[in-house]
Amino acid sequence: MRPRDREMMIREIRAEDLDPSEFIAQKVEEISSIVGGDLAINALSGGVDSSVVTMLGHMALGERLKTYFIDNGLMRDGEPERVASTFERLGIRVEVIDAKERFFEALRGIRDPEEKREAITRAFYRDVFGELVRKSGIRYLLQGTNYTDVEETVAGVKRQHNVLEQLGIDSERMYGYRVIEPLIQLRKPAIRKLAKALGLPEEIWGRPPFPGPALAARIIGEVTPERVDIVRRATRIVEEELSSARPFQCLAILHEDKVTGVRAGRREYGWQIEVRCWDSEDATTASPTRLPYETLYRLAERITGEIPGVVSVTYNITKKPPSTIEAV
Ligand code: XMP
Repeated sequence: MRPRDREMMIREIRAEDLDPSEFIAQKVEEISSIVGGDLAINALSGGVDSSVVTMLGHMALGERLKTYFIDNGLMRDGEPERVASTFERLGIRVEVIDAKERFFEALRGIRDPEEKREAITRAFYRDVFGELVRKSGIRYLLQGTNYTDVEETVAGVKRQHNVLEQLGIDSERMYGYRVIEPLIQLRKPAIRKLAKALGLPEEIWGRPPFPGPALAARIIGEVTPERVDIVRRATRIVEEELSSARPFQCLAILHEDKVTGVRAGRREYGWQIEVRCWDSEDATTASPTRLPYETLYRLAERITGEIPGVVSVTYNITKKPPSTIEAV
């Protein structure tokens, strides 16, 4: 079967047609019957998709679901600690796995966007999860792949890191565990509706999307710890300045090329940061938010003033399509 035919077999459930309690009951039942008396694992990133899957999985399996936060070194400031403590408050234990070196090693020297995404997929599923599964004998991985992820991957826009089957990847044969995807028929608005029904706090159901490849999706060229540090600092400033306007997503991108700047009367050959801020419903199409010029000016002042080595800040004014939301 060709990938597009396989995708067509997934029937979308739109937010307006979703009955959250019925869907939750059905998925809890499905997860219990697939996993039976075995153990399962899942990776929680703190985004709405993986948070909903964590809740469904714990309702179905209780302590037989082991939840991990994979610290790939590509997350935003303080994210691993913040996510783990939010879920501890909900009574769910999250173990943080330090996999930073693994991911940086996998990404070393890679500049091509799709190769980067592939390296992240491999490091995540084969190396980190493969090892956890081999050590523990767990046979199931629960994950929050959604309808848009599959659609974009199958259409060839970009390979979403969590899409396997539709690319012909047999996780059982390649990695030794089976993947269960309870949210595959839903897009973001429907998943947010479920998150609310599950009683998750607004910091989760209202959280803007963040890509699986994390800050690596926002670095053009090689991903190194130093370059992640620049984009992480810029992301923090962009989120501090723009989140109150509640955009669909706002982000900072680090360009590969340097440009000539001047500071204190001296030449400085430095980095360029591109700011993006999106209005969108479900990420399939998007338009740049019409930010006030004063806001843009403040962003440029802060980013060039607070991040050593950055001499240029630009704002993306292109719609998706032809742009995409992330840069990689
Ligand atoms: P693009 O950049 O393709 O992004 O316009 C569409 C939406 O998906 C998010 N995104 C991802 N989410 N895994 C995910 O779970 C990924 O590999 C991935 N790549 C992009 C992006 O942030 C946007 O909301």
